[in-house]
Amino acid sequence: MASWDPDQYSRFAEERARPFHELVARITTTAPVAVVDLGCGPGTLTATLATRYPDAAVLGIDSSPEMLAEAAPLATPQLSFQLGDIAGWRPQRGSVDVIVANASLQWVDDHAALMPVLAAALDDGGTLAFQVPTGGPVLDFLDPGVAGPRGASPVQEPAWYVRTLSALGLTVDAWETTYLHVLPGEDPVLEWFSGTGLRPYFAALSGAELDDFRARVAAHLRERYPREPFGTILPFPRLFVVARRT
Ligand SMILES: C[S@@+](CC[C@H](N)C(=O)[O-])C[C@H]1O[C@@H](n2cnc3c(N)ncnc32)[C@H](O)[C@@H]1O
Repeated sequence: MASWDPDQYSRFAEERARPFHELVARITTTAPVAVVDLGCGPGTLTATLATRYPDAAVLGIDSSPEMLAEAAPLATPQLSFQLGDIAGWRPQRGSVDVIVANASLQWVDDHAALMPVLAAALDDGGTLAFQVPTGGPVLDFLDPGVAGPRGASPVQEPAWYVRTLSALGLTVDAWETTYLHVLPGEDPVLEWFSGTGLRPYFAALSGAELDDFRARVAAHLRERYPREPFGTILPFPRLFVVARRT
C-alpha cells in the first residue's frame, strides 16, 4: 500500500476536520470509558476525543507508520496510538463505548464483513460513528489500468448502512452532506487528492511516467474544477452514519 504523507494530508486540515466535528457532535453515548478512533491519521482529531471524553481511555489505530509517527507526540496517559489494520481490529477488553472512523472506512474492503464486527464491538449504549466520501467525486475519470492500485470503492449505498446496522440491532442516524470547499492556490484539487486518493496512483509510477500522469490529472482537474476569482470550488459529498446500541 502506498505510504501516507502527513504534511500533504494536513494541508487542508480545516476542511478535513469539519466532517469529523459534525460527526462526533451527533454521538449521544454519555460518559464512555473506552473510545477508539479507527484510521486516526495524524492524531490531531483523535486528541479532541480525549478532551471531549475526559474520563475515557482513547485509542487511535492506524495502519500507516508515517501517520502514527506524527501522532506519537500527542500521546498522554489517557490517549494512545497503535499500529493496526481496521479490518483486523477487535476491542482489547470485550467491548468499547464509542468507535469513530472519520474518512477511513473507504480504505477498507468488504463492508458487509466489517459492519457486524464493529457493531459487535459496542457495549450497550455504545455508538459507532463513521463518515466516508461518496460518489467518487473527482477520481472517477482515472483509468484503473494506469496504475491499477484499487478496485471499485467498497462504500455502499447510504440506505444499505441503515438496513445493515438496523438488522444488527443498532438505532441508526444517517445523513449526507455535500461540502462546497473553496480551495486557494494553484491546482488545489490536485493537491487535495495528492494527500489521499491519488497516492496509490503516484506510488505505482515513477520518473517521466509519473510526471506525465500528474500533468494529465492536473489538466483534467483544472478543466473540471476551474479556478475562479475567489478560489476553486470542490464539491465533496460525504455520508455520515451514527449507529447506537440502545
Ligand atoms: C483520510 S485519512 C483520515 C485520518 C483521520 N481519521 C482524519 O479524519 O483526519 C485515512 C486514514 O486511514 C488510514 N487507513 C487506511 N486504511 C486503513 C486500514 N485498513 N487500517 C487502519 N488504518 C487505515 C490511513 O493510514 C489514514 O491515516
